[in-house]
Amino acid sequence: MKILMVCLGNICRSPLAHGLLQKKVDDRGLDWYVDSAGTGAYHVGEGPDPRSVDVAAAHDLDIRYQKARQFIVDDFDEYDLIFAMDSSNYSNMMQLARNEEDQQKIHLILNESYPGENRTVPDPYYGGDQGFKNVYDMLDEATNKLLERLVRAKNN
Ligand code: 4NP
Repeated sequence: MKILMVCLGNICRSPLAHGLLQKKVDDRGLDWYVDSAGTGAYHVGEGPDPRSVDVAAAHDLDIRYQKARQFIVDDFDEYDLIFAMDSSNYSNMMQLARNEEDQQKIHLILNESYPGENRTVPDPYYGGDQGFKNVYDMLDEATNKLLERLVRAKNN
């Protein structure tokens, strides 16, 4: 199983989703690969935003190993599931999808917590630390739900 988390810059939201899910997957001893990317190229090569690094570290999660990269069409071939943080990431990737199979890989991450509601993870970039805490909590819950759902599917 290969899972990709996607936001705009790949420095604030998707690195948290990536780090959270990878740790939970590893803790369960599952041989799954998790990565993240941004639809935009502004921050390619940079590490995660220090505010994301800090909120992760406060929960014993180290995301400093990550490097921002841009989402590419080949990611549709590489990944089984692709999660958008918000509706703009979602529609940007939908536009890049080559066929229905690509499109079916794309989901909004918060639909794991709130099925069918199409809620979005707010972009915390221009806000303060509280925004990063909110994003962390939302993604912690969503990645718990996602992992439970995938483990259930795997065992059925
Ligand atoms: P992210 O946040 O998409 O959660 O990584 C952003 C980071 C940078 C910018 C926008 C959003 N930016 O415009 O540079």
